[in-house]
Amino acid sequence: MATTQLEVVDDEAALARAAADIVSDIVAANPDAVVVPATGETPLGLYAELTARRDTGGFDPSRLTIVQLDDYLGLDPGDRRSLFGWMQRALLAPLGITDGRVRRLPADGDPDAVASFDRELAQAGIDLAILGIGENGHLGFNEPPAAADSDTRIVDLTPETIAANARYWGRAEDVPARAITLGLRQILASRRILLLASGAKKHGIVRRALEGPVGQDVPASFLREAGAEVTVIVDRAAWDG
Ligand code: F6R
Repeated sequence: MATTQLEVVDDEAALARAAADIVSDIVAANPDAVVVPATGETPLGLYAELTARRDTGGFDPSRLTIVQLDDYLGLDPGDRRSLFGWMQRALLAPLGITDGRVRRLPADGDPDAVASFDRELAQAGIDLAILGIGENGHLGFNEPPAAADSDTRIVDLTPETIAANARYWGRAEDVPARAITLGLRQILASRRILLLASGAKKHGIVRRALEGPVGQDVPASFLREAGAEVTVIVDRAAWDG
């Protein structure tokens, strides 16, 4: 059963530093780690902090394998909304991680390709998953209701997620309605999980995930039953509201 540690820090800058300390320690102990990084706004400070540490010799990402967490479906190559593109801009390019070290989700969601992706991932195992939380409790794009043993799959995004993600792309009409996500089974099997949340808008869902009933209506609540060592870092606004 998981050990869940909660760290409440002052603000987003402190969150980025605290998360970077943990990621740096994990990578120093295991330079060949398999890492799943969320996109979205919450981990941007962490990725900037890791880049700064790499530049001063305090963090070496050169041997990591990066596994994509989720993406929208049905986008043309080069579409500005691609989450793979987001990951490249926020993390891969700044850290100098080359395409050969990245395992990309099958962009067309082909079932055979998805099944073999999961098989290969299960063999390697995920050493570290860096996650954000949706305002509806999703992890990756595991939208509620999501079973703890759900595999990597295509999902329809909920109206809540489409509304929340409109802030990235302009209008709700610009948010693709379908996506592919690593399953909760794959995420929860990670050896270490880092969940990050910042801002008052995450307050309600953070409390529900950590203190409410564990169940499919709040996928992030399953972190409390994961086999992994789970660290939750939240800023004061997310914790106190
Ligand atoms: C993104 C992802 C999502 C986000 C979540 C929070 O790859 O998987 O689960 O982590 O929606 O997004 P932000 O951080 O933008 O609030």
